[in-house]
Formats: sequence, structure tokens, C-alpha cells
Amino acid sequence: MAKDVILSGMRPTGRLHIGHLSVLENWVRLQEEYDCYYTIVDWHALTTSFQETESIKDNIKEMLVDWLAAGLDPEKSTIFVQSHVPQHAELHLMFSMITPLSWLERVPTYKDQVQQLGKMGKDINTYGFLGYPLLQAADILVYRADAVPVGEDQLPHLELCREIARRFNYMYDRQVFPEPQALLSKVKLLPGVDGRKMSKSYLNVISLAAEQEEIKKQVNAMVTDPNRIRKTDPGNPDVCVVDKYHGIYAAAEHEDIREQCRKGAIGCVQCKKRLAQALEEQQAPLRERRNKILNNRSYLEDVLAEGAKAAREAAEKTMEQVREAVGI
Ligand code: TRP
Ligand code: SF4
Repeated sequence: MAKDVILSGMRPTGRLHIGHLSVLENWVRLQEEYDCYYTIVDWHALTTSFQETESIKDNIKEMLVDWLAAGLDPEKSTIFVQSHVPQHAELHLMFSMITPLSWLERVPTYKDQVQQLGKMGKDINTYGFLGYPLLQAADILVYRADAVPVGEDQLPHLELCREIARRFNYMYDRQVFPEPQALLSKVKLLPGVDGRKMSKSYLNVISLAAEQEEIKKQVNAMVTDPNRIRKTDPGNPDVCVVDKYHGIYAAAEHEDIREQCRKGAIGCVQCKKRLAQALEEQQAPLRERRNKILNNRSYLEDVLAEGAKAAREAAEKTMEQVREAVGI
């Protein structure tokens, strides 16, 4: 029996941070059981950044290196760049013919984002941005994916994708597309070092595969209980960023560390040292893999060339059926 197909994608934002690691770990696990397609969606980046395109190529490379360092394996999965597979664009066009405008206008994130980016001086009242979820539906359905690992924020997009699949099948009276399921995985939420959401624009991230210096610097910058002056003062771990990290990186000893903090039996310096060590242990192998491939241009090009070839072949099979169904 053929394996079920999985597709997921990320916009090329450049180097990832350790908050992305649980998403990637999930993708890596899925490779063992499914026929996985993982794509860097550069056309999606254009929907909001059509005026600043100079970093897209570099961002694609940095993200690809992070994916590989985290364990995505081109021998097991099809790893590729969206714009290398023109069938995504063709299917997007077909879908645009059968999608009522109101379906796109009512996607909950749409008006929100137009407004928010508008406030930041960016006008994205474009046809392309309105069609963003349709392009995403094409990404998924062009491989007839059965399931899509995504975060909760993407559920409205996936719901639209299912509606499009249903509408197409109904309209042309055949089962070309499955209705892909969302695979929601529990994402461990790591705050940034300042306690806000981890985001590159806040400068509060720890990079994936970070150098030891960066780990130390960022752990030192973590916000701790502000009422704790001397290390014997009783602390409150509930207001401390370090504690959130211990919850993930020192799970077995977490309660113990919290107790020591409350009793004033451990100082923040020592507590941070411990976290920095745990982070270093996790990141060192990633860093090693990252550095090995970072400057191996021909390897990276090969990965993407082979990925695009396999993706195009699979996508073309679907498109043959789509063209036939539509009658062109
Ligand atoms: N919209 C997704 C995001 O912002 C990225 C994306 C594009 C995607 N196409 C996809 C995710 C297909 C899953 C499947 O995160
Ligand atoms: Fe945070 Fe640890 Fe300091 Fe407690 S001892 S406030 S958990 S850094």
C-alpha cells in the first residue's frame, strides 16, 4: 500500500530559532511513516514582501540548512522550494476560478493582517494577498496530501483548503482531491529571553544551532524574579523566564529546581548556568551538522534540485487529472 502523503511548508524567514525545534522534530518523526513533502514557500513570502526581495534567496538557504541540521533527510523526504514547481501556480490559478470571493474575504486572519500591516505602513490590499490561502491550498492539494502538520493559527487556512477540495470534486464530478486533515502537534511554547513572544524582530531569540557564546549571552539576558536581590532571598519561579525553559530542558528535575528557588537554596547565576549547559548539549550536534553543510553549496543545490524534480513529477500527475477534469 502506498504511504499516506504529508505536506507542510514554512515561509523563508532565514535562520530559525529554538522555538521552531519542536515543529521540526515532529516533521522529522513523520518522515519515518509517511511520504513527506516539505517546502520553503517563497511565493508566499512575496505576498507580503514583494517590495523587499533582496534577502529571499539567502533566507531560503539559511532555512534549508536549519532543516537539514535538525534532521530532515532528503533521502526520506522531498525537500524543495515552492517556486521551483510551477504546478503550484497552475493549480492556484485553477482554484481562483472556482473560489467565491466571499470565502477569501471571510478568512479570519485576512482583514486583521491587512489592518495590522497597514498600520506599519505596508499596503497589502493586493489580489495576491487575498489569494494567500488559495495558494496554500494548491501547495497541499497538488500532492493530494492526506494530512498537514500545522500550528493552530493555520486551521482556518486548512479549513478553506478542504472546502476547495470538496468544491472542485463536486463541480467536476470526480474525486481528484482528498480532504486533508490537520495534524496538530503539541508545540512547546518557549518565550523569548525578555519574556515576550520569541521573535527575531524583538532580538530575544536563541538561534537554532546557536554558538555557545550566543547561548550564554541570551541565557544571561533572561528575565528572572526581579524581587530577588541576594541569592538567599526566596524566589518566585512563576515570574521567571529561566523556569519556563527548565520546564522543557530539565523536565525531570523541574520541581526540584523550583523548590530550591523558592527556598533561596539556589542562586540565579547557578540556575542559569545549568540551563545554558542543557541548551548547549542540545544545540552542539545541530551546530556541528549545520557547519558541515553551510558552505557546501553543491550539496545544498543538489538537495533542492532533486527535491524539485521529485515534486514536479508528483505534482504533474495531479495536474494531468485536474486538466482532464476541467476539460482543457
Ligand atoms: N501559511 C503557512 C504559514 O504562514 C505557510 C504555508 C504555506 C504552509 N503553504 C503551506 C503550511 C502549506 C502548511 C502547508 O505558516
Ligand atoms: Fe529563576 Fe532560577 Fe533565579 Fe529562581 S533561581 S528566579 S528559577 S533563575
